[in-house]
Amino acid sequence: MTQPTAGALLELSGVRKRYGQQVAVDDVSLALREGEFLTFLGPSGSGKTTTLMMVAGLQQPDAGSIILRGKAVDRLPPYKRDIGMVFQHYALFPHMTVRRNIAFPLEMRGTPKAEASRLVDEALAMVGLPHHGERLPRELSGGQQQRVALARAMVYRPALLLMDEPLGALDKSLREQLQLEIKRLHRERRMSVLYVTHDQSEALTMSDRIAVFNDGRIEQIGAPADLYERPASRFVAGFVGETNFLTGEALGRDGNGARVSLAGVAMPVSDRFLATPGSRVSVAVRPERVRLSTTGEGVPAELVDLIYLGNARRFVLRLAGGAEWTALMQADAAEASEIEPGQTVRVSWQGMHATAFPM
Ligand SMILES: Nc1ncnc2c1ncn2[C@@H]1O[C@H](COP(=O)(O)OP(=O)(O)O)[C@@H](O)[C@H]1O
Ligand SMILES: [Mg+2]
Repeated sequence: MTQPTAGALLELSGVRKRYGQQVAVDDVSLALREGEFLTFLGPSGSGKTTTLMMVAGLQQPDAGSIILRGKAVDRLPPYKRDIGMVFQHYALFPHMTVRRNIAFPLEMRGTPKAEASRLVDEALAMVGLPHHGERLPRELSGGQQQRVALARAMVYRPALLLMDEPLGALDKSLREQLQLEIKRLHRERRMSVLYVTHDQSEALTMSDRIAVFNDGRIEQIGAPADLYERPASRFVAGFVGETNFLTGEALGRDGNGARVSLAGVAMPVSDRFLATPGSRVSVAVRPERVRLSTTGEGVPAELVDLIYLGNARRFVLRLAGGAEWTALMQADAAEASEIEPGQTVRVSWQGMHATAFPM
């Protein structure tokens, strides 16, 4: 048995779930701290929803334990877990007014009428819908319905709020607006939130920490900057933020650090991962770390396209060997300002900005 983590509101250890032959969740362990906003990020089918459902009590794990506020909840039914939930599809009761929808969890818990009415008013104000209480869900827009779902999940002040792709059905500008509002509510109410998304920019915007899911497992858990600056695997490097990859051969180290042979050129990489000289590695470099020059050292590349983005320029490159890379540069960067599509350039970087993942 692992020891409980100090300050943890929710703790999962060794949680597994399969559906028939399909392993949906494979040995997931994590601790969510009191007041934390933790996001599950991963591609479709990676086990995010199944994990959330087990926390909610809507699915039973095959193995492992789930501990909320120091108590095992494995055998507790959902309504006894002190957890609120918001799903992608609002799941409001269509025949009930907004007020009655929000009051529903309070009625279920036997909250006295006057107190319930006060809490509903507060919840409506909190999600910016103070005058919409008498409407039916179908008389609201998608974004408003999702705010009502949020109010309903928060009105009884659960210890933990679970949200599964709650903004997935909304258009981009509404989604971005609600991301900031959910973040504000989290901060103001000091709520603990477990949030699910497959959208990496949403995860980076909202989270204190992110757990990256792949194939039923957590590949890495950390603050957004940790995942971006120090990805633990090639998968995380590719899933969180934009990354260029190039396959090469490890050369070992000399006095200047680790080196990798890429398209026949010895290039520097960080020494975060040790690769046996001669073994294959996948080198990852962020677009904003790529340097271009017409002279000097680097991997030869052809500039295929140059895209003007207003505040920045995006260079589309084809490297020797065929890989397509992008380089991102501030509009006022003098570097490479005279390069034109069709021209051959040299691509380079500082060793600390390149990671070589063993393959
Ligand atoms: N009720 C179910 N019955 C059978 N297989 C399921 C069920 N729910 C999910 N799965 C499978 O489990 C895996 C994980 O699914 P899910 O947790 O929904 O992933 P995510 O939310 O990350 O998209 C997928 O392969 C999915 O097809
Ligand atoms: Mg899902």
